[in-house]
Amino acid sequence: MKNLIATSLKYQNAELYILDQRHLPHQSQWHKVENDDQLIAHIKSLAIRGAPLIGIAAAIWIGHLAEQGANQQTLLHSLEKLRASRPTAVNLMNYLDRLKAAITAGHLAEKVSQISINIFEEDIQLCRKMAQHGAELVKPNAKILTHCNTGSLATAGVGTAIGVITTAHQQNKNIQVWVDETRPLLQGGRLTAWEMEQAGVAYKIICDSMAACLMAQGEVDMILVGADRIAANGDFANKVGTYSLAVLAHYHNVPFYVVAPSTTVDPACPNGQSIPIEQRDPNEIKGINAAFGSVSWSPEKAAVYNPAFDVTPAKLVTGWILESGVYNQNDIQTGVLKTL
Ligand code: MRU
Repeated sequence: MKNLIATSLKYQNAELYILDQRHLPHQSQWHKVENDDQLIAHIKSLAIRGAPLIGIAAAIWIGHLAEQGANQQTLLHSLEKLRASRPTAVNLMNYLDRLKAAITAGHLAEKVSQISINIFEEDIQLCRKMAQHGAELVKPNAKILTHCNTGSLATAGVGTAIGVITTAHQQNKNIQVWVDETRPLLQGGRLTAWEMEQAGVAYKIICDSMAACLMAQGEVDMILVGADRIAANGDFANKVGTYSLAVLAHYHNVPFYVVAPSTTVDPACPNGQSIPIEQRDPNEIKGINAAFGSVSWSPEKAAVYNPAFDVTPAKLVTGWILESGVYNQNDIQTGVLKTL
């Protein structure tokens, strides 16, 4: 397979490496992936994360195994193990299904590895197109609020919501970005802040709970978020905290956009209630345990509720920015997401 290079994943000289996002922004640690279990552990721990990139990493790994001569049974076994690594982001399942169809049809090495290359390269184009459509909606001097990390660390390209932001910045729109820190794992405060700095975008980090008062003060002109799975009716799952932003945006009359490729759409999923929501380790809430240190502040036996994602109902969304264009409530109600 040819070399493939993204910000936090690279396939080089027939070896797959991932950038451990748990250590960003202060350390760049790359890990070579040597077997299925290692990749699954990296996905579960969020060393590698973001809906598109999880799927892309899994796809490249399967392509790599195929090229190394793995037989049909081995490939299908690895594929099913990877499918179960994180349940909410549907890009993983979409990409693995694409590979599975080729593997079960008996196409092995060349075809399977080519599909995984295509998945990587297509994502770059999907990001570019979403960014162009979305940037058209950004007004000069806009103050934009975003949640979690949806940039080049989460995709093979410029990202989804962050792709829109950096493209608007490159168009000299003089934007400012409010970066939700994104408890509990701080993808905003660590990763989005880092991406904003790399791109030279003016930004300020806020605690998630500060979004309400900013909106009340008229300090937010639009909200851009990504998605992990969009149901056929336009409801979508994204990093927990997204739904509260949507409710706040509705109350304060702030346009609220979701930016995601068609590979994040699940036409077989009728609505948000049908999206599986990953529950995570209580220790993520009871303290922090990361490259910058480890501390637990809650009573040792404290009970915890820790869903990684929440569901935003379609009725709170101003627009769905996909690679094929921007869709409004009417488009969604006429079932456009089932036809992508
Ligand atoms: O748990 P994470 O960090 O993988 O969650 C990521 C998100 O929720 C992103 O907003 C989503 O995957 C879109 S990434 C382009």
